[in-house]
Amino acid sequence: MDTKKNPWLMLSLVFLSFSLNNHLSHGADTISAISANQSLSGDQTLVSAGGSFVLGFFKPGNSSNYYIGMWYSLSKVSTQTIVWVANRDKPVSDKSSSVLRISDDNLVLFNESQIPVWSTNLTSNTSSSPVEAVLRDDGNLVVRDGSNSSKYLWQSFDYPTDTWLPGGKIAFKKITNENQRVFSWKNEEDPAPGLFNLQPEADTIIYIILWNRSIQYWTSGPWDGKIFSLIPELNSNYICNFSYVNNTNESYFTYSVYDPSIISRFVMDVSGQIKQLTWLNNTNMWNMFWSQPKTQCEVYDFCGAFGSCNPNSLPFCSCLKGFVPKSQNEWNLLDYSGGCMRITTLQCKNTNVTNRLEDRFLPMPSMALPVQPQSVGVGNAAECESTCLNNCSCTAYAYESNNCSFWVGDLLNLKQLSGDDHNGRTLNLKLAASEFSSKKNNKGILVGAVAGSVAAVLLGLFVVVILRRRNRAVGTGKTVEGPLVAFGYRDLQNATKNFSDKLGGGGFGSVFKGTLSDSTFIAVKKLESISQGEKQFRTEVSTIGTIQHVNLVRLRGFCSEGARKLLVYDYMPNGSLESHLFHEKFLDWKTRYQIAIGTARGLTYLHEKCRECIIHCDIKPENILLDAYLCPKVADFGLAKLVGREFSRVLTTMRGTRGYLAPEWISGVAITAKADVYSYGMMLFEFVSGRRNSEPSADGKTGFFPTRAASLLAEGGDVLSLLDPRLEGNADAEEITRVCKVACWCVQDDETNRPTMGQVVQILEGVLDVNPAPIPRSLQVFADNQEHIVFFTESSSSQSSQARSNASATSSQSKSGVSSTSSKS
Ligand SMILES: *[C@@H]1O[C@H](CO)[C@@H](O)[C@H](O)[C@H]1NC(C)=O
Ligand SMILES: *[C@@H]1O[C@H](CO)[C@@H](O)[C@H](O)[C@H]1NC(C)=O
Ligand SMILES: *[C@@H]1O[C@H](CO)[C@@H](O)[C@H](O)[C@H]1NC(C)=O
Ligand SMILES: *[C@@H]1O[C@H](CO)[C@@H](O)[C@H](O)[C@H]1NC(C)=O
Ligand SMILES: *[C@@H]1O[C@H](CO)[C@@H](O)[C@H](O)[C@H]1NC(C)=O
Ligand SMILES: *[C@@H]1O[C@H](CO)[C@@H](O)[C@H](O)[C@H]1NC(C)=O
Ligand SMILES: *[C@@H]1O[C@H](CO)[C@@H](O)[C@H](O)[C@H]1NC(C)=O
Ligand SMILES: *[C@@H]1O[C@H](CO)[C@@H](O)[C@H](O)[C@H]1NC(C)=O
Ligand SMILES: *[C@@H]1O[C@H](CO)[C@@H](O)[C@H](O)[C@H]1NC(C)=O
Ligand SMILES: *[C@@H]1O[C@H](CO)[C@@H](O)[C@H](O)[C@H]1NC(C)=O
Ligand SMILES: *[C@@H]1O[C@H](CO)[C@@H](O)[C@H](O)[C@H]1NC(C)=O
Ligand SMILES: *[C@@H]1O[C@H](CO)[C@@H](O)[C@H](O)[C@H]1NC(C)=O
Repeated sequence: MDTKKNPWLMLSLVFLSFSLNNHLSHGADTISAISANQSLSGDQTLVSAGGSFVLGFFKPGNSSNYYIGMWYSLSKVSTQTIVWVANRDKPVSDKSSSVLRISDDNLVLFNESQIPVWSTNLTSNTSSSPVEAVLRDDGNLVVRDGSNSSKYLWQSFDYPTDTWLPGGKIAFKKITNENQRVFSWKNEEDPAPGLFNLQPEADTIIYIILWNRSIQYWTSGPWDGKIFSLIPELNSNYICNFSYVNNTNESYFTYSVYDPSIISRFVMDVSGQIKQLTWLNNTNMWNMFWSQPKTQCEVYDFCGAFGSCNPNSLPFCSCLKGFVPKSQNEWNLLDYSGGCMRITTLQCKNTNVTNRLEDRFLPMPSMALPVQPQSVGVGNAAECESTCLNNCSCTAYAYESNNCSFWVGDLLNLKQLSGDDHNGRTLNLKLAASEFSSKKNNKGILVGAVAGSVAAVLLGLFVVVILRRRNRAVGTGKTVEGPLVAFGYRDLQNATKNFSDKLGGGGFGSVFKGTLSDSTFIAVKKLESISQGEKQFRTEVSTIGTIQHVNLVRLRGFCSEGARKLLVYDYMPNGSLESHLFHEKFLDWKTRYQIAIGTARGLTYLHEKCRECIIHCDIKPENILLDAYLCPKVADFGLAKLVGREFSRVLTTMRGTRGYLAPEWISGVAITAKADVYSYGMMLFEFVSGRRNSEPSADGKTGFFPTRAASLLAEGGDVLSLLDPRLEGNADAEEITRVCKVACWCVQDDETNRPTMGQVVQILEGVLDVNPAPIPRSLQVFADNQEHIVFFTESSSSQSSQARSNASATSSQSKSGVSSTSSKS
């Protein structure tokens, strides 16, 4: 894998699974039980009766260590995905001389020197006959009584590592008063327990995630019999059926998968997030279905001591100025837990040196302050500073409205916030004076300097340009920095083989596939009709560059040489939704549903979570791209401003767009985010029908599809009759109903009746319920007029860009309600 070169791809891969090299040689023998006369060694594997799971020695990534692990049969899940590890912190180095066998009625792993390194540790001789170990088809390794196969003496479900399989449990053991804990791997090459663990909160109906067994940074909230209060979205988890068990020995949650053909698991990921992943047969990839906490920087101290987490940059972690990663190797494996160390030791009060250079303080604005501050009552900022200066172990201070806080030792859980975040504070970091004399880098964190070799490889020959943007919304003059690569035109010409591989054309210009020198793929958009000057262009581009969300296509960089204006994006291997929805390839219903939710989340982010509300203005299947895991990414956002006044002309010439345009585009009223809601609604109908609304139906059913769907819904008819015939009825009727209801609300004539994209997400997640919508008048009209959508004319669209600009002044700063950390002693 050369994923190291592409941090984004690499991150997603790590999030999705540990894709491990398959070291199994073909023809290795498989056994069905480990018994008195049958042991397991070398390439031998223990296979479950139904062939679903396999147990044997494996080697994670480039590690030289071997472990006994369990994975899905490669015929079911083609990338080796480890779900359980026996000797997770006691590796062996030679698999052929190590052996897993029964010894003294226990299952024991002996290393090369035949020394036991792992054992099931059963003490009492409860068995009346020799025991044996078998792998059940649900992924439970059991040691059972040789004469009574239903008597389990030990089971791996009682000792989960990082994965919670269907049928498994994470229990509170009442007899020993112990919580079972599911620990993340340390990193992708080391299954030893990492810093993050999921566990029940004693004998309650709450799950929590802890950092280093002590600091709680996430909770599920209590179970109300149906849902966990803080993760209502699991209610709409149509894959899993959760149930709570409370008996005399233990209490726990378990779950089953409704459809046994679906492979799904929960994993306490190395990212510190709990994730639900589902295997996609058609793409042979794990699809991340759900994760909590939602954003990486909510994970407590993810970047380690003196590291800083920045949600708007990749990689998320960087060391503070004057610091470098303690272990570059671990950082390369996305394991930041080791944190950063100082480059130049502090002078402190070394009075022996004459003319000594005193340590100084670097102000770092817009930070979420580290945990465990100490405070002291002083009169002013200068006193606060000298308090810290005079204390050799003080590493930083913050002074605000007569409050002086300082920190001793490691700075933990630092976050870089955006410039307009009201929670941002200025942290003054103590550094050796020599750190200040080097060049002019004395403002904030040196972006990219120590961002790890991952970024270094990615950037290759190209220069990092740190774009600064005045924050117009707040007007305080604070600057926001974000790394975008400024490409030279020649570089892009080379990367795209002189623009030979065209991926598509759009209103804003054609898109070409390219390859960077490190062989990562990119998509290069050659912008047409740019009416802006250089400075304004760079300003707008840097704004777009700061907008990052899992459901938005990421801008990597740009090129601006005279009239040559190009944008460089991540390449999306699965192309656009259009090709998957309307052409020979088609997506199953569940995938469509996930794409609908993901797209809605991306739009919610644009509308509500960005610094400025961004109206996309051109939502249609062509602009929804799919990554390798069929995760939807909204493309082409923020471009309307780049093309400025030309936008309306561009809109009219865009093919396939008209079917998605909201009526207010012609009525001349100001365009708001609700115009996107309308387009999204129109597109939702196409998710159901699998064809364009504007095209007549192939199965002979007459009428405009949205009108047919709205009427059928109002009459309470059979929604399955609306479904894309290619799906042969394989869809959840409740979900189709939900999608159609949302779509009908989205395409209401009066924009105030349309939901916000945030509400759309909640409805699709099943958190919010809605009544059936009235049939919009425009749809009623369209019922007898197939020419309905050809009403968009050039003359009527001239206000569009103006209206759009007005709308974009609205800003919202709503933040997610769950706070990221809370201390627990
Ligand atoms: C192991 O022993 C049992 C009976 O003791 C026998 O039935 C079985 O065939 C043996 N297996 C092997 C692989 O020798
Ligand atoms: C493993 O090592 C090879 C060769 O050194 C390298 O190309 C590859 O990226 C490494 N893989 C991982 C997952 O680190
Ligand atoms: C447990 O009991 C069985 C049968 O009595 C015997 O074969 C076995 O050796 C005993 N194991 C231990 C560890 O004493
Ligand atoms: C086997 O394990 C023991 C105990 O952990 C250790 O001392 C010994 O070095 C190991 N042998 C080898 C060859 O690694
Ligand atoms: C077995 O006991 C040893 C020593 O007490 C312990 O280190 C090890 O973790 C135990 N193994 C299991 C699977 O509980
Ligand atoms: C086998 O074990 C199960 C569970 O412990 C028990 O219910 C059952 O009675 C046992 N059967 C025999 C024949 O001992
Ligand atoms: C589990 O059951 C016990 C009694 O058997 C009860 O005391 C306890 O409150 C129950 N736990 C929960 C979380 O309901
Ligand atoms: C985790 O806690 C232990 C003590 O419980 C401490 O020794 C260790 O340094 C902590 N790890 C980190 C990364 O802070
Ligand atoms: C969900 O699981 C519970 C407990 O195992 C079971 O009783 C119930 O029938 C399941 N529901 C469905 C719809 O499968
Ligand atoms: C609780 O544990 C005891 C002793 O291990 C066992 O006999 C009993 O069956 C267990 N009860 C339940 C409900 O699992
Ligand atoms: C995925 O493929 C496996 C093996 O080919 C099959 O058993 C399973 O039913 C498929 N699952 C789905 C959801 O199509
Ligand atoms: C200062 O210098 C003296 C003599 O050179 C030495 O003994 C002492 O340890 C030094 N003190 C410090 C704090 O370095």
